[in-house]
Amino acid sequence: MKFNIHLIAAARPNFMKIAPLYHALSKQPWAIPVIVHTGQHYDLNMSDVFFQDLKLPAPHIHLGVGSGSHAEQTGQVMMAYEKILLDTRPDMVIVVGDVNSTMACTVAAVKLPENGGQQKDGKKLRRPLVAHLEAGLRSFDRTMPEEINRLVTDALADVLWTPSPDGDENLIKEGVDAVKIQRVGNIMIDSLEMLRSSIGSQNAYKGLNVQPGNYGLVTLHRPSNVDDPQILQRLCNALINISKKVPLVFPIHPRTRKHIENLDLLPKLEQEKQLLISEPINYIRFMNLVFNCQFALTDSGGIQEETTYLGIPCLTLRPNTERPITINQGTNQLCTLNNLEDHVNAMLSTRKPGKPEIEFWDGRTAERVVKSIKSLLR
Ligand code: UD1
Repeated sequence: MKFNIHLIAAARPNFMKIAPLYHALSKQPWAIPVIVHTGQHYDLNMSDVFFQDLKLPAPHIHLGVGSGSHAEQTGQVMMAYEKILLDTRPDMVIVVGDVNSTMACTVAAVKLPENGGQQKDGKKLRRPLVAHLEAGLRSFDRTMPEEINRLVTDALADVLWTPSPDGDENLIKEGVDAVKIQRVGNIMIDSLEMLRSSIGSQNAYKGLNVQPGNYGLVTLHRPSNVDDPQILQRLCNALINISKKVPLVFPIHPRTRKHIENLDLLPKLEQEKQLLISEPINYIRFMNLVFNCQFALTDSGGIQEETTYLGIPCLTLRPNTERPITINQGTNQLCTLNNLEDHVNAMLSTRKPGKPEIEFWDGRTAERVVKSIKSLLR
């Protein structure tokens, strides 16, 4: 008997989370992994190039939802995915991370009506099991759309696969039944390890005219940093100041670019010789830039984890993080716009932190997830 397993992919960070699992499930005689792309990220450089780098086939199902307000995007994904669920009746739905599509697909799947009249392989049709990979992370900041997505997803999913002990603790404190929780580790590290040699063989920094170990890598896209014109203006000024001391490589997220263009700030940034701005970069080249940078300055969740795994200093421009393990390990520090430049100065004059060892951040998370799926669907 074969089980149909939907892997929900929606936005850039999701692709690195489903790829190792897709490859591991493809090798199992009992599993039919089906990639469902909601279309939340649709630009070539936000989606297709990640499928190529991660050796994923084109999505088996594409919902083509695109951008919109939170309610529009969430509602469109729910409506489109419910139709697919009714048509295809998967045995399991796996959602990853914390984007709007993660929550939307979870809600659609857990509310799928049972269909007692119909049979599939001699069995009564049931709603699919819903599993959340990267469960339990909490910033405790409900102004972040991702925190709402995490809370709703974890409240509804049947299986909660966590990356680190804080995830287990948060879920237990919220009253989740311990039998639902399984610590499997960090799936992003599987993608990094899967492609380590390709990443290492790139020289992405060369084309940018920076030296390995002598530039900062910047990614910023959180609404709290880029949506408010005053904040964005100050942020751009801070980047210009920092780039006078150390070159900065800054691949600009579409959300950020849109706001920078609205403020007509792009020419000002472009004229800075050591502020190297570009379009978003594909996974393998981007990770090569991470491997070789002196430090990262980010508001992304994934980059906090990847730098921690690699022992690279990271400054996170946020008042909080849902990934406290990156702070405890000494690689990541939170900062604000007021103290950003001081933090960079301090970082440039201190030694690199060591490479921490975190249980289950080992490139074998997909293996543990496959084992878990097998026991759940048996
Ligand atoms: C989303 C996720 C965030 C994740 C991030 C990674 C939510 C609430 N947020 O934020 O958790 O860290 O992805 O990138 O789900 N756009 C394009 N091309 C694209 C995709 C988006 O131009 O391919 C534009 C949209 O038109 C929109 C903006 O980027 O104006 C934001 O896209 P959206 O998916 O809503 O959220 P992100 O900010 O990317």
